[in-house]
Amino acid sequence: IISKNIVDAHTAIDRIMVNKEFGDAGDKVIIEQFLTGEEASFLAFTDGEEVIPMASSQDHKPIYNYDEGPNTGGMGAYSPAPVVTDELFDRIMTEVMIPTVKGMKAEGTRYTGVLYAGVMIKDGELKVLEFNARFGDPEAQPLFHRLKSDLSPVLLATINGTLKGVTLEWDERPSVCVVMASGGYPGKYQIGKEIFGVDTIHEMKDVVVFHAGTTYIGRHLNANGGRVLGVTAMGTDLQDAKDRAYKAVDKIDFHQAHYRTDIGDKGLKY
Ligand code: GLY
Repeated sequence: IISKNIVDAHTAIDRIMVNKEFGDAGDKVIIEQFLTGEEASFLAFTDGEEVIPMASSQDHKPIYNYDEGPNTGGMGAYSPAPVVTDELFDRIMTEVMIPTVKGMKAEGTRYTGVLYAGVMIKDGELKVLEFNARFGDPEAQPLFHRLKSDLSPVLLATINGTLKGVTLEWDERPSVCVVMASGGYPGKYQIGKEIFGVDTIHEMKDVVVFHAGTTYIGRHLNANGGRVLGVTAMGTDLQDAKDRAYKAVDKIDFHQAHYRTDIGDKGLKY
């Protein structure tokens, strides 16, 4: 729970420890430093020795524009994230990713796979918020859209311990992914709403619709989850990628579809 002042912090403690909203899980709390700044996602492949970074990306976790409302799994992402300058990119590698992989090996828990660091950046200062042992969703969508290298040999090299010398080739153009969610998500939402318009997207160049929570009922595509579609577009620059992603979103419809309209705006500040 992110508390912006002491009153919010007391309310949070009461919810957890007095009202027991999370049951026994609330018997212990961890109080962490409140960090401000801009978040970015940094993913890399590692075979336990080599660390091969992917391009930078940025998620949009809250449900509403301007980062308002409760956190979700992610309402959109774009790559690259200009907040991760070349200098910060190198620092994240040398100060975070490589020491983490080396440290895990030294502790006898060698890690193989995708390592994802969520970082907070403020005035050139770098803090690690979290690690995930997986790709990011929806960060993976713009990343895979831009990845020109074949993914399967990279995954095999990750597993086989042969990542040394592997390089990844990226499309220079930015990619923006807008998540279309079911109305009510991340709270209660209804499934089973028919989705219209996805077929029309095939005509749009450099636009991909990634399916997250969808299913076919007979021949009809239906929403079947909280986050339903990741509508992803590349453009000549970030503004163009954003415009093209929202043009595609406009062609798709299902009852009570919800999406943010500001995906990529943080990057446009730069
Ligand atoms: N998009 C945030 C995550 O995958 O954890």
